[in-house]
Amino acid sequence: MSSLPDSRGFEIVARQDFSDVTYLLEVRHPLMAKAARAGQFVIVMLHDHGERIPLTIADFDRERGTITLVIQAVGKTTREMQQVCKVGTHLLALAGPMGEPSHIGGQRRVVCVGGGLGVAPIYPQARAYKEAGARVTAVVGFRTKDLVFWEDKFRACCDEVIVCTDDGSAGLKGNVVEGLRQAIAAQPDTDEVVAIGPPVMMKACAEATRPHGIKTVVSLNPIMVDGTGMCGGCRVKIGTGIKFACVDGPDFDAHQVDFDDLMVRLKRFAVAEKAALDRYEEHCRIGRKADR
Ligand SMILES: Cc1cc2nc3c(=O)[nH]c(=O)nc-3n(C[C@H](O)[C@H](O)[C@H](O)COP(=O)(O)OP(=O)(O)OC[C@H]3O[C@@H](n4cnc5c(N)ncnc54)[C@H](O)[C@@H]3O)c2cc1C
Ligand code: FES
Repeated sequence: MSSLPDSRGFEIVARQDFSDVTYLLEVRHPLMAKAARAGQFVIVMLHDHGERIPLTIADFDRERGTITLVIQAVGKTTREMQQVCKVGTHLLALAGPMGEPSHIGGQRRVVCVGGGLGVAPIYPQARAYKEAGARVTAVVGFRTKDLVFWEDKFRACCDEVIVCTDDGSAGLKGNVVEGLRQAIAAQPDTDEVVAIGPPVMMKACAEATRPHGIKTVVSLNPIMVDGTGMCGGCRVKIGTGIKFACVDGPDFDAHQVDFDDLMVRLKRFAVAEKAALDRYEEHCRIGRKADR
């Protein structure tokens, strides 16, 4: 954990918009950048009335003293951040690095799979496997060519990059599970697969590797509240046991995860989440009218 550098919080030093829903924020936080390891996340509060949301540390630069977050605007808080987080503004609170770092080291051939929102979080893992001496293939999936990002960053740290697009406008036509199957066929001695993305995608990756007996790790994204193992909100079923993703994970053995339970739990607050977004959008609409 770390203290605030100034009373306004943590400065946003760079922003990039990858699409109308996906954006990157680079945030100044030298202590976090020093402590962060692949697989970890932060809990962010935008302002003092804001909710706490978990976001993966998609990159960290110890020399610049910054961490990078890549965010998809899916609901009230992530849309509000999309609107108000500009270069020079601040995030009020940033707690972390949280979660167990990924277990990296000793693998010879690894395939890192990132689909949609999982593309950014898989990057620090791919880089760390490479630094630990593994041969790394990245399989990254997007809906279409215009949404592709960080291909150059993956090419700089991986031995092979397989880009997949749903419509075939770039790379392989199909989703990342197709790319994963190709990568395994080309390298049957792959000893580990890491997959990050929507639960349905991670489940499909787990089923693709199960018959080959390849160890497969997924990073789970259940709803989190405190991020410290106290509230039980992030409970996940792993094999016959229960784990808390915020302190026991977020990485788990994909072949042991009950993905159906995870998907049901992710929808628990859908009505309240929609009401919060509707209220926020109405508030923005009234604000825009008043400004005219
Ligand atoms: C360990 C972890 C890492 C994550 N990393 C990223 C990331 O790098 N980039 C990114 O865009 N998103 C990431 N997420 C998901 C992100 O936290 C949610 O999209 C965000 O909390 C949604 O908040 P909202 O108010 O915008 O939307 P809401 O309307 O509140 O929720 C939209 C959907 O997001 C999920 N969600 C809502 N609240 C939470 C919560 N407190 N914790 C987790 N999920 C929630 C639910 O499935 C919900 O249906 C991560 C989640 C976890 C658990
Ligand atoms: S978020 Fe509360 S126990 Fe994990």
